[in-house]
Amino acid sequence: MPSLKYLQAIPPFTEHFFESEDEADESIDNGPTGGLTWDGRVDRGREQAKIPLFSDFEMGNKSEAEVGRHVLRAGYGKAIDDIAGPNADGDPEIAYRTALKALEVYEQDYQTFYPYSSKYDAVLAGKAELSPQEARGLELFNAPEKGNCASCHVSQRGNDGTPPQFTDYGLIAIGVPRNRDIPSNKDPAFYDLGLCGPLRKDFIGRDDYCGLFRTPTLRNVALRKVFFHNGGIHSLRDAVRFYVERATHPERWYPRRPDGSVDKYDDLPEAAKANVNMDPPFDRKAGAEPALNPTEIDDVVAFLQTLTDDYESSE
Ligand code: HEC
Repeated sequence: MPSLKYLQAIPPFTEHFFESEDEADESIDNGPTGGLTWDGRVDRGREQAKIPLFSDFEMGNKSEAEVGRHVLRAGYGKAIDDIAGPNADGDPEIAYRTALKALEVYEQDYQTFYPYSSKYDAVLAGKAELSPQEARGLELFNAPEKGNCASCHVSQRGNDGTPPQFTDYGLIAIGVPRNRDIPSNKDPAFYDLGLCGPLRKDFIGRDDYCGLFRTPTLRNVALRKVFFHNGGIHSLRDAVRFYVERATHPERWYPRRPDGSVDKYDDLPEAAKANVNMDPPFDRKAGAEPALNPTEIDDVVAFLQTLTDDYESSE
């Protein structure tokens, strides 16, 4: 589950994204971009809310009326009436639609969903300073020949002055290891391929879209317990380490085949492996030095911890 925070800045999903603010790059097609979920399937909060409500591995409701009945039984009848008009509370369908809209409106509460109250925001406002380790981490995060993280997780303000979002909203395949704890993955023929389905339905069969997931913001990433679209990595340090070791030490991340060879990108079928991104830090040879050494990985993690909201109140 991606966080519901900082979704307000994400553009609607498009297959062809042209940077409108950055004049130098205006003619470059950045490919599939945007949408609120890992696979960019929906553009609005009310559509996003339907996914967990009806998913058979989340809340598993069978109909809209069933959701509406739960809403009414939980005591929201009066609140539904206040929004949808008197006597609406008897109608589960109205209760359902009103609840979805209410969720969408709630997600526009900036103090809850996009407060920009991290230490890094305080630093940008001149109200705090990064520690030496955090500052080194930011440099390594930005440097193209080191982490190169900012090439996708943008650390600069937008041209219109908006705070950095730590995502360029692009859908990219990075080939994270398969999470064998997911029940549907017990079937070796099942793959969650993001943009090309099977959960998203409109690009099934588009092999060039298989394995692509939307670059998430890294704001509040230090609060997460599981990382990446399949939740297969369980610490922030390991998530950073994966980036710099995927090319140099794949055997640390992927299982071996019976013949002893490393099954790289084991969460993708053969045809999708060609989609995996090879930009730095993924451009090194097997056995080479990773782009970040263990101390530098710690530095990047220290920097990422400055992206957690409520810095002032945690002081
Ligand atoms: C080529 C683009 C690209 C680059 C470069 C990149 N990322 Fe990512 N990042 C992504 C995408 C796409 C995902 C989601 C992939 C997935 O889940 O399959 C992601 C996910 C993550 C996550 C998991 C977030 C979550 O909510 O689970 C972390 C942490 C992360 N990146 C950190 C970094 C760091 C640190 C670097 C630099 C070492 C970096 N990224 C470089 C595109 C990129």
